Amino acid sequence: MDARALWERYKACQCHCPQLGLTLDYSRMHFADGFFDSMHAQAEKAFADMQALEGGAIANPDEKRMVGHYWLRAPELAPTPQIKTEIAGCLGLIKRFAKLVHTGKAKPQKGSRFTNLLVIGIGGSALGPQFVSRALSTPKDKMKAFFFDNTDPDGMDYMLSQIAASGKGLRETLTVVISKSGGTKETRNGMLEAKAAYKKAGLFFARHAVAVTGEGSELDKVAVGDGWIGRFPMWDWVGGRTSELAAVGLLPAALQGLDIDAMLRGARMMDEATRAKDAKHNPAMVLALMWHHAGRGRGAKDMVILPYRDRLELFSKYLQQLVMESLGKELDMQGHEVNQGIAVYGNKGSTDQHAYVQQLREGVNNFFATFIEVLRCRAGKSMQVEVGVTSGDFLDGFLQGTRKALFEKGRESLTLTVDALDAETVGKLIALYERAVGFYASLVGINAYHQPGVEAGKKAAGAVIALQHKLVAYLKANKGKRFTSEEAAEAIGTKDEVETAHWILRHLAANPDHGIKAKPGATQFETTYGV
Ligand code: PA5
Repeated sequence: MDARALWERYKACQCHCPQLGLTLDYSRMHFADGFFDSMHAQAEKAFADMQALEGGAIANPDEKRMVGHYWLRAPELAPTPQIKTEIAGCLGLIKRFAKLVHTGKAKPQKGSRFTNLLVIGIGGSALGPQFVSRALSTPKDKMKAFFFDNTDPDGMDYMLSQIAASGKGLRETLTVVISKSGGTKETRNGMLEAKAAYKKAGLFFARHAVAVTGEGSELDKVAVGDGWIGRFPMWDWVGGRTSELAAVGLLPAALQGLDIDAMLRGARMMDEATRAKDAKHNPAMVLALMWHHAGRGRGAKDMVILPYRDRLELFSKYLQQLVMESLGKELDMQGHEVNQGIAVYGNKGSTDQHAYVQQLREGVNNFFATFIEVLRCRAGKSMQVEVGVTSGDFLDGFLQGTRKALFEKGRESLTLTVDALDAETVGKLIALYERAVGFYASLVGINAYHQPGVEAGKKAAGAVIALQHKLVAYLKANKGKRFTSEEAAEAIGTKDEVETAHWILRHLAANPDHGIKAKPGATQFETTYGV
């Protein structure tokens, strides 16, 4: 394609939304003429499905629940007065609580003011808060945020050491435990480890803890029973990965001192724009259609997210969950095996140009890129790093250079351009991708709002822990005797689980907690274990 034709294509393939300060360029996607027409009926169905969902339909039939994250920023659209009141009430509660904390009226047991925030959660109860915290943090933040997002003891120790190094440590740390179900083990473990750390520091955890969870959940019961200083609701009609604009995301953001009204306003504006039924003028539908085109509706190409802005580096991780947990499904709505999904990865440009972009340019062509450009480089003016050139000019140069190089090698890309990176833009980006995922799910006929694979992983871990209990009990009952993995598995009647037993014993012997010791044998399988 010559330069003139390419310019004409560029002009024709823009979803320009000046009211949002956002433009989506899809000129570097190689869809055929007539693609939009060929997808018309499917797009119409996706619009209808979304309208029904926003109207309160049971859009997640497997879990028999409504899907209401759009109401969080437009409570007047909620299907019942009760939901509307709950949303407004929760927002008021968050703002009042953040104010009490910031003014020192809600204060720690032994300090005058909370200055640190430890957020404990995982998946949808951590990725959004982490992304937003990183994207919008400034030196003026009212509290410094730390996260436990795993059950890794060493990871928690590291985070606690960071808290300790930050002035007053746990004495001035408010811990927010987030779990919609209230029963997630990683989060429960993080809470117990934090509680123990407070105790070691001579502090009562309850005087420093608040919960965000479903009413009556295990976590809720602990928070009530132990008299934590606050409880904030999670409702069954908000899914984990779409809960950033519920208390899950708004409470940590408000405590950090971020503008949550602007985030909600941005999301609301994006929702309004992406309700437009004209596919080419709806950036969420254009995204969904381009994903469909790139992967032929089968997820055949990976989505590489390349935001050219450090603050957006966790956006790729956030989107990885939003897209892959929503779209990665074995069955369609009719129960047919479809094994859908789109793989998502990425960090930030231009840093990634010194990592995997080499392969994107020259290696296997199994992806499409999404560049994210933020027009305003920084608050204020920049110095010149070369005569007449700033660091931001280089960032722009690298983005354009990579986009061009990919195109020259026949690799597809989308570019999302936003005017500036602020709380409103973050709200818009979240809402844009939430709706694009919903549209795509309709295009390929799957339920985006359940996560059977996650539940399966939780069950499998439970079975491993149950086997560990048996093995430890057996070795303790046979103190002084030694067993190979095979012998131990056979002895407790789980011969079929010998591999699991082997992993468990190897793990137990590497740690001092259970008193299990290993004696090396001629091969790792002849190693014997005992107490
Ligand atoms: O998006 C989801 O539904 C999941 O990733 C959950 O957020 C995650 O499993 C954590 O669940 P919970 O908030 O119940 O602790």
